This record gives sequence, C-alpha cells and structure tokens, in this order.
Amino acid sequence: MSKPSNSAFSAPKGVPDYVPPASAEFVAVRDGLTRAARLAGYGHIELPIFEDTGLFARGVGESTDVVSKEMYTFADRGDRSVTLRPEGTAGVMRAVIEHGLDRGQLPVKLSYSGPFFRYERPQAGRYRQLQQVGVEAIGVDDPALDAEVIAIADAGFRSLGLDGFRLEITSLGDDTCRPQYRELLQEFLFTLDLDEDTRRRAEINPLRVLDDKRPHIKEMTANAPLMLDHLSEEAKAHFDEVLAHLDALGVPYTINPRMVRGLDYYTKTTFEFVHDGLGAQSGIGGGGRYDGLMEQLGGQALSGIGFGLGVDRTVLALEAEGKAIAGPARCEVFGVPLGDEAKAKLVVIAAQLRAAGIRVDIAYGGRGVKGAMKAADRSGARLALVLGERDLADGVIGVKDLSTGDQRQVPVASVVAEVGSVLAGG
Ligand code: HAM
Repeated sequence: MSKPSNSAFSAPKGVPDYVPPASAEFVAVRDGLTRAARLAGYGHIELPIFEDTGLFARGVGESTDVVSKEMYTFADRGDRSVTLRPEGTAGVMRAVIEHGLDRGQLPVKLSYSGPFFRYERPQAGRYRQLQQVGVEAIGVDDPALDAEVIAIADAGFRSLGLDGFRLEITSLGDDTCRPQYRELLQEFLFTLDLDEDTRRRAEINPLRVLDDKRPHIKEMTANAPLMLDHLSEEAKAHFDEVLAHLDALGVPYTINPRMVRGLDYYTKTTFEFVHDGLGAQSGIGGGGRYDGLMEQLGGQALSGIGFGLGVDRTVLALEAEGKAIAGPARCEVFGVPLGDEAKAKLVVIAAQLRAAGIRVDIAYGGRGVKGAMKAADRSGARLALVLGERDLADGVIGVKDLSTGDQRQVPVASVVAEVGSVLAGG
C-alpha cells in the first residue's frame, strides 16, 4: 500500500490499491478461487455494494463486532439508512428471497467475489476494504453438501499452490441443543471471577468468552463445558457425517471445539482456514451452516451453508510461502515503429493481431529506437515487431525474438499468421 509521496491525495486509510504488476497476482488468486466454485456448479451472483442497514443488523447480528462497531453506515439523500456490505451472506439471502430462487431447484448454488467493508483497525492483512470470494448453497441440509463446500475452498487454495494452511472445524449445534448449552456455559462462566467487560460478554454472547486469548481467561475457562460435548443426537450425527465425507475426500482437518466466528448466524458445521505465515490475521477463509438465516430475513425456513475466502490474505499467504504467482506478461508482442508512417502501419497491424487474440502493445510518442526497444524488453513481450521506413517500401516487417535477439524479416501480409505460429511454439 505504498503511496506516491508527492500526491495530493491518498487512498483512504486501510484501503488497498491493486496496481500492476501486483494486481496480476490478485486477479490470479481471485480467479483461481472462483474457478474451484465454478467446477462444482455454482452460478455467479453480483450483489449491490450497499444494502438497507437493517439487513445486516438482522442477518449478521446486532451483538457482533461487525455490526456494532465496524459498519460503514450512512443516510443517503433520501434519508434512508444504508450500509456498505460488511459480508456477502445476508445480501445473497435477500436476493434469493427477492427473486424467488428458493422456489426452484434446490440447492441454490451461488458464488460471488468483490469488495466488502469493515471499519477495523488496519494492519498487515486487515483492511477496511477487503476482497472475498464466497459461495452459498441454499435449501438442502445434507452433510455431503457441507463437505463439498469445504472441499471447494481446500481445492481452491491448493490449486494456487498454497499448502501451509489448516482447516479447523467444529459444530455449533442447532436450536435443539444450543440454547441449553448456552445456559450451561453461562452457569459455568458466572462462577468465575471475571472482569466487568468479560462478564457482560458472558451475558450477551458467552461463546465468545471461550475465544478470549488472554492467558488468565484461558486458564479459567480451561474446563468450561464445550458445545461439541453437548450436541443433540441429530446434530452430532450430522457432524460425524461431515467428517466422514471429508475423510473420504482426503481433506485434512483439525477439530477446534473453541472456535468462535465473528458472525451470529452460524449453526452446526462451522469452519475456518488458518495460515500460520500471516501473523495475527491468520484466517484466510471461513464459513459454515446458517440454517435459521433465511427465515430470520423473512423467507422460507430453508437451510444454507457457505464460505468467504479472503483474497488479500491468500495473496499474503502465498508470498509467505514464497509462492507468489507471476501473472502473465502484460503483452506478448511489442511494436517498435521507426517513424510516423511506420507507426501508422503498426497501429493497424496491432489491431489485426489483437483481433486474432494476441496481446499487443506499441511504443507510442515518437521515442527513438533505443527507448522503444527498452520499452519492448520491459513489457515482458516475447516478440518485438520492428518496422522501419525501408521495410515499409519493401512490404516486410522485422520479427525479433526478445529472449534470443534473433530477428528475421517477414512479409507484412503474413505477419499475423507468422506471429501466431511463433507464439504457439510452431
Ligand atoms: P468472515 O470470516 O467474516 O466470514 O470473512 C471471511 C474471510 O474474509 C476471512 O477469513 C478473511 O480471510 C477475510 N477477511 C475478513 N475481514 C478482513 C479484513 N478486515 N481484511 C482482510 N481480510 C478480511 C464471512 O464474511 C462470511 N460471510 C463467510 C460465509 C459465507 N459464511 C457462510 N457463508
């Protein structure tokens, strides 16, 4: 996020720019993660960047940090309260209900990517505008679907070459067992000598106390009752089946019964992908089931499961593993015109090459041949097309291999075929 020092403006605090050449890696990661979802039949959904504030308050949960402290909320000119989306799941559910997708074939399988907004304290890997790739599978409560969603994320990360991460998983139970467990946990927590803030947290969201990283709290809660030991029979069978599917798929996991997610809608299967090369911001992706959410938002009582993968953090994780993905070179062919007439001709040749699907750039601005050749080298192109005045008269053009320096003259009329054949390795 380095900024030019003499610029009058800089991007808002905690908001990254993605500029070449690093932007190529960002695109490769986003597209790689999306591809994993496409391979499993998830269709693209493009959602509004802002929604009615109430959607997130009701969907994500008023007691979460995301809603209570981190939302970009403002009144529009019509005095409606709107919020820049802090996450994707609530918006997807709203759209599914609004467009009646839940009345068709189930599960509804959707994927999305784009920016989300959280007013967090910026640091490495924690931004106020963050990028996610997400999927949601709505309407079928089948443990095999939970495993599919998790396996897509796992495959997506691995397809990029990433392997230093682990999948943590647990079950948060459902309506039939969580309320009882919550009471049990509160009873336990209220016997402890907690500071006022922590006690308040125990009242509002006792599960969050189990995630407290302070050593003395960790020690006090070491023997706290855990949801996993108090699952209903049905929730336990569901969880066991998810794990059996993951075993069959060869997706490694660690059970973390103390996992706490930052969003309130989770039920049953809940998971996080954690990378140790990132320092404090170790979560490269997370998700889970949210079986009550659709009903909560005024729709049918349908189940759902999904994930959000952090594109920014995945890029950082790849860098930490020394596996930064080099994007493709900016262009494959670079035109070097010697004189205005040659430039006019090269502009036309470039358009013909582009029409044939070849990436081409040209030295503009009447640079000398030295400067133009330097630009050709910097462009990352494999071939330079060198066109001089004499060539024009002879109807030929120089095709120069920029790695070997070899150059040969070919007829202008066949340059598209020639270049195509060289690039194809012919
Ligand atoms: P989340 O865990 O809040 O889940 O976010 C998912 C991922 O987004 C995180 O694991 C992390 O990689 C990335 N992320 C979150 N906040 C930041 C930040 N400030 N800076 C950089 N990266 C960040 C959700 O958002 C759920 N909607 C996921 C989901 C979909 N659950 C079910 N369906």
